[in-house]
Amino acid sequence: MGRETIRVGVIGTGAIGGVHADNLMRRTPGATVVAVMDIDRARANAVAAACDGTRVFSDAGELIADPEVDAVLIASTDATHADITIACIEADKPVLCEKPLATSVADAERVVNAELAAGRRLVQVGFMREYDHAHRDLYDLLKSGAVGAALKFRSLHVNPLFVRELTIESVITNSLIHDIHSARWIMGEEISSAYVQWIPVNPARPGSARLADLQLQFASGALGSLEYNGDSGYGYEVIVEVTGELGQLTTADHPSPALRKAGTVSQAITPNWPERFAQAYIDEVQGWIDHVARAEATGPSAWDGYMSLVVADAAIRSAATGMPQPTKAGERPSMYQ
Ligand SMILES: NC(=O)c1ccc[n+]([C@@H]2O[C@H](COP(=O)([O-])OP(=O)(O)OC[C@H]3O[C@@H](n4cnc5c(N)ncnc54)[C@H](O)[C@@H]3O)[C@@H](O)[C@H]2O)c1
Repeated sequence: MGRETIRVGVIGTGAIGGVHADNLMRRTPGATVVAVMDIDRARANAVAAACDGTRVFSDAGELIADPEVDAVLIASTDATHADITIACIEADKPVLCEKPLATSVADAERVVNAELAAGRRLVQVGFMREYDHAHRDLYDLLKSGAVGAALKFRSLHVNPLFVRELTIESVITNSLIHDIHSARWIMGEEISSAYVQWIPVNPARPGSARLADLQLQFASGALGSLEYNGDSGYGYEVIVEVTGELGQLTTADHPSPALRKAGTVSQAITPNWPERFAQAYIDEVQGWIDHVARAEATGPSAWDGYMSLVVADAAIRSAATGMPQPTKAGERPSMYQ
């Protein structure tokens, strides 16, 4: 692209959109935010006020088409992602789309097909754990052969409290989707089947999910076990473990000083995801901007977004049938090899 500063438009200025806009404005050399849009005008105005000189749009299509917008970051609600991402591809604009890429396999497939028609990668999906040091260090050790071949992937995804009651389907497509992506990325292979069990928030609402346990099988026969806890009562954590043929790997604790007092040792746990992944969000947008500036694409691809939804779809079919379900994926196009 050859520009010194990439001019970004942000669509969706809620919780994470505000974090991304702030990071792009203040902590990302080579980037600036020139446009924001949200169907909630007051939210867009508030973020624009924090980003000097930023224009507020009332229509996503107009923001995408604007010649002063070089690249687009999508942080609106899940169901809007696929159509807005396709509009960016058709306008030939690089796009960082928050997870999930879509809310169905069919919609994710439409995004992949649009990118294939464009003939080059324009899409990065917001699976920011790839930029988290604890995850990356574990990944590097595994790839170095430290524990030999991986036999099992485990993760704990622990949330502090219920903001709102979620169905098992939305836990899978909105929350466990992060862990599904981590499993594919860290194990370096595809998932062939999924089986989910869960405990409802209230027995009167069996479709609600307080704790969910997603069992996976990988193409090689390796196993996966992903736990989602909606209400830990103590804070937010993501812990990943891999059992290998020669040993076991566990992600390092998020660094905080140990306090020794009154006969105990204690360590702070981050209250929620904005604190736990603060640096990963910065590194994610910096990586995106650096590649956009070189007219390249990096990080989790539209194909990764699609494959994570293929696994989510098998998990949702498993929730409906009470049985393990095979994943049903198309062939990986050469653009994503
Ligand atoms: N990667 C991560 O760790 C992470 C963390 C949080 C959220 N997310 C994802 O980011 C997205 C936003 O989540 P959030 O927590 O910020 O939610 P939020 O509800 O705080 O913000 C969403 C915003 O999107 C706006 N919006 C809805 N429809 C729109 C449309 N058609 N056009 C423009 N704006 C629209 C809403 O008005 C709202 O301001 C979700 O898809 C979520 O899955 C990712």
